[in-house]
Amino acid sequence: MNIKQHIQRAQTDVANTLNRYFEQPLNSDPAIKAATHYSVMNGGKRLRPFLVYATGHMLGADKQDLDVLAAAIECIHSYSLVHDDLPAMDDDELRRGRPTCHIVYGEAQAILAGDALQTLAFELIAKHNFTCSAHTQVKMIAELAHAAGLQGMVSGQGLDIAATDKVITVRELERIHKLKTGALINCAITLGSLAANNTDKQLLANLTTFGYAIGLAFQVHDDILDIEGDTCTLGKPQGSDIAANKATYPALLGMLGAKEKAHHLIQQAHQALANIDADTTVLAALADYLIARDH
Ligand code: IPE
Ligand code: IPE
Ligand code: MG
Ligand code: MG
Ligand code: MG
Repeated sequence: MNIKQHIQRAQTDVANTLNRYFEQPLNSDPAIKAATHYSVMNGGKRLRPFLVYATGHMLGADKQDLDVLAAAIECIHSYSLVHDDLPAMDDDELRRGRPTCHIVYGEAQAILAGDALQTLAFELIAKHNFTCSAHTQVKMIAELAHAAGLQGMVSGQGLDIAATDKVITVRELERIHKLKTGALINCAITLGSLAANNTDKQLLANLTTFGYAIGLAFQVHDDILDIEGDTCTLGKPQGSDIAANKATYPALLGMLGAKEKAHHLIQQAHQALANIDADTTVLAALADYLIARDH
């Protein structure tokens, strides 16, 4: 399989897991259920689920365990997008090729849909009967909470908003990008390795180096696409960062500097993989794909 087929496989698997949840009778308000479903069951690339699967398969994890972790991290990511698009944040009206949640369902329902997706992530992990120990299961919940919360994505988003209309240093921007995007991407890899019960410190350290390098490269490329992409292909408004005067890599380093930074990070990612004693072919292909993608 090539990288696109691997990604498609992850897309199908995560859709099946999420559909199983939403198709069961839920004792929930139909309006909030619809807004929640709308926000997670749509055209996302599912790259975080892909990383859970790729890492877990590489290290021999159980497929059903990976299904749950993949769906859970996609719930957190989808919630972050719903809130990221709100008028109080990036104020965007298009996401994954469709009107954003608050445009369709209103702001209050969108805030609640984000809340529901966030808690659903932890419900899915807590309720699953994993092949690994209960101790590892708690660790998975702790890792996801850490990556998503105050010491991860939420702080990155807070700093991103605070940096809007301001001049910041490259160092500060790197911190923002690592937190708002890198933390969750790295967590996907951590979840895959936890599912495989792998405790090899050297391997985990190399995977973490890989995760932070691709996580930062991913957001640098997202900043590049905001300028070079087109709205139709992106499925979200091109030029949103410039319109909002956001701190981005192209804004700070110029387009060439931003592209060099992304390439350098992907080289670092490959170096980390070279130190891993396992078949890293799929992760390596993903690293290249991340800065070649057009959406
Ligand atoms: C967009 O993430 C937000 C960032 C962290 C840059 P993705 O580019 O993974 O968005 P989807 O899930 O494919 O829509
Ligand atoms: C969003 O970064 C990061 C998170 C949602 C955590 P952006 O604001 O750049 O993402 P897009 O470009 O709207 O997808
Ligand atoms: Mg944002
Ligand atoms: Mg945004
Ligand atoms: Mg962006």
